[in-house]
Amino acid sequence: MKELKERNALLTGASRGLGVHIARALAKEGVNLALTARSVDALEKVREEVISHNIKAVAIPADLSETVQVMSLSDKVDDKLGPIDILINNAGIEWATPFRDYSPQEIEKMIQVNFTAPMILTRAVLPGMLNRGRGHIVNMSSIAGKTGFPNQTPYASTKAGMIMFTNSLRTELDGTPVGVSVICPGFVAEDGMYAEMEKRAGPAPRSLKPTTPEKVTSAVIKAIKKDSAEIIVNARPIRPIFILQETFPGFNTTLHKVLGTPAYAEKISDDQS
Ligand SMILES: NC(=O)c1ccc[n+]([C@@H]2O[C@H](COP(=O)([O-])OP(=O)(O)OC[C@H]3O[C@@H](n4cnc5c(N)ncnc54)[C@H](OP(=O)(O)O)[C@@H]3O)[C@@H](O)[C@H]2O)c1
Repeated sequence: MKELKERNALLTGASRGLGVHIARALAKEGVNLALTARSVDALEKVREEVISHNIKAVAIPADLSETVQVMSLSDKVDDKLGPIDILINNAGIEWATPFRDYSPQEIEKMIQVNFTAPMILTRAVLPGMLNRGRGHIVNMSSIAGKTGFPNQTPYASTKAGMIMFTNSLRTELDGTPVGVSVICPGFVAEDGMYAEMEKRAGPAPRSLKPTTPEKVTSAVIKAIKKDSAEIIVNARPIRPIFILQETFPGFNTTLHKVLGTPAYAEKISDDQS
């Protein structure tokens, strides 16, 4: 979708973290925004900020862990803003703890918010996009979805799911006017879930130097305009490591030891227990 001006976007996870940066970047492109998350006041603050770019913006609070609320979201956006041209499945949650200590409820909630809700939202907006002859879906994954992350097993699994959801749907929609992209950020400094984690547990290992919110938002805009399949946003080139890992799957555990993730995983888990 080359021209974004006056298109309508639904952005999940718009109340804080990377979602706020994505909202600003879309507003600068002239995109009208439906902002969703649970925190009503925070959403309203973001809405008030982005309308200074002469766009329309509405705040529609919803809890993505509740399927009924997810299912009614796109109709609400239709009523308050108009048909959705762009869906950004950005909202996500994470915890860090040894897998044996997760409760079934925690596992279910993480899958629901990070993976099921994006698929249900996509299913809801897709027929309209195909009928109107335009649409783009951006799914927010993580490099954890490319390589896994110890003590974040459910999180990394949902993020891997987002990659395969994108790949499958993108192939299914080939030849249609609807594009699908996945963004895989590494750790992001300054704002968002890693920035919060860093305040509590200290910085990630030097090998996993963080990237910035600006680089993530640029990737989102580029993905929509160029219909990119997958963009990895990391401080250092990391795709060659993933190619090595794909070729030699047994290398994954060694790779993590080299990167220093097991030690960092212990720190963040201890901190949260
Ligand atoms: N930050 C990073 O380093 C990093 C790295 C790789 C990938 N990512 C991915 O980037 C995305 C954004 O992350 P972030 O760092 O911005 O996280 P964040 O600061 O924790 O923000 C998460 C957003 O999701 C919303 N959310 C959480 N639970 C929700 C629920 N049940 N229903 C509706 N909305 C909910 C939150 O809003 P409310 O609490 O108001 O509901 C908030 O707006 C996530 O998918 C994350 O996995 C982040």
